[in-house]
Amino acid sequence: MKKIASALLAVVMMISMAACQSQEQSQPESSESSMPQSQTNTQPESSIAAPEESTAGNRILIAYFSLGRNAEYPDDVDASTSASLVLDNGQQYGTTEYMANLIQQNVGGDVHMIQTVTPYPTDFDAVVDQNHAEMDAGTLPELVESDLDISQYDTVFIGYPIWATNAPQAIFSFLSEYDLSGKTVIPFCTHDGYGAGSSYTDIAAAVPGAAQVLDGLAIEASDVAGGAEPVAQWLQEIGMDKKAEENVQAEGTAITITVGDTVLDGVIYDTALAKEIEEYFPLTISMVGFGSREYYGGVDFYPENLEGGQKTFENGDITYCEAHHNMAIFYAQTDDPVLSVDVIPIGKVTSDLSIFNELSGNVDITFALAE
Ligand SMILES: Cc1cc2nc3c(=O)[nH]c(=O)nc-3n(C[C@H](O)[C@H](O)[C@H](O)COP(=O)(O)O)c2cc1C
Repeated sequence: MKKIASALLAVVMMISMAACQSQEQSQPESSESSMPQSQTNTQPESSIAAPEESTAGNRILIAYFSLGRNAEYPDDVDASTSASLVLDNGQQYGTTEYMANLIQQNVGGDVHMIQTVTPYPTDFDAVVDQNHAEMDAGTLPELVESDLDISQYDTVFIGYPIWATNAPQAIFSFLSEYDLSGKTVIPFCTHDGYGAGSSYTDIAAAVPGAAQVLDGLAIEASDVAGGAEPVAQWLQEIGMDKKAEENVQAEGTAITITVGDTVLDGVIYDTALAKEIEEYFPLTISMVGFGSREYYGGVDFYPENLEGGQKTFENGDITYCEAHHNMAIFYAQTDDPVLSVDVIPIGKVTSDLSIFNELSGNVDITFALAE
């Protein structure tokens, strides 16, 4: 019965993909949706797109799988006749890749292409057959090795085309290879009219340690080229537009925060107080935990620029407190910030914060400019 349903779905898919092709053909080239330069390469890459362009403090990863990037289409393939490519300003994109880029335009972050070692066939029926075989056998196709450091991110978008009402097996390869514990996971997908299927549920089940799995967005392939507005609206609905603002705030000069043997990444802001304190780097402070939310320690200098005090904090904030004459790193409880005195954010720890849960007693923490 399942086989018959699958075969029927494949037939329906072929018809709907033919429909999709003619719609793509009639899509005008959009100048509004022009993609960032780093995304315009039509050749598959094996790693994060342009990792050197990542800004310090940028903690959003947009990982995607797209057939257009995982099948060996000839270089001169015509996007207007291919089901799995979107044409924009003369550049060809995988459908899901295009959606990944729309997300990046809104929230920033790094884009990572998930690529299988063995490319998929370019023939639709052959991909359908291979996918069914992989699903039936629970195969996790091997992924191209990459230098992706997942610990650098606290929010991970996972993008994919719907294959047989689920995510392709390569997505589950990615989820089993990279540890998304403690991270916010956000699925998004493209499809040919049948929606996200069981993909959201199965992805959530594959990341049991995730801090949260937010509502996904599914866009029909024929609507992806005009998807800027629905993507922006969805990001607003799930609160990711605020996250983008935090990212901008997290931009500054790259620093390291050394806690015992562990070196964390961070930034120090471009504010008068932060610049004043940066003068004392490398700065080692004996810090102690308080309230399961912060490590703090006294300093022996008296800064003059003390604007911007607040009684709230974000996890990862590095702050100076005039009243207690100390610096602190906040690592938990941003949802319930019960501070009795003002703190002034001067920077942010951008690495995973879980180390602070494991510390006990006094610990020397060194703040230094990154080399
Ligand atoms: C093997 C295979 C199975 C598919 N199964 C479905 C499906 O179950 N439901 C659906 O709506 N679209 C299905 N599609 C269509 C793709 O989800 C759709 O074309 C998608 O936008 C392609 O994205 P990509 O270019 O990023 O690969 C299937 C496509 C392929 C190749």
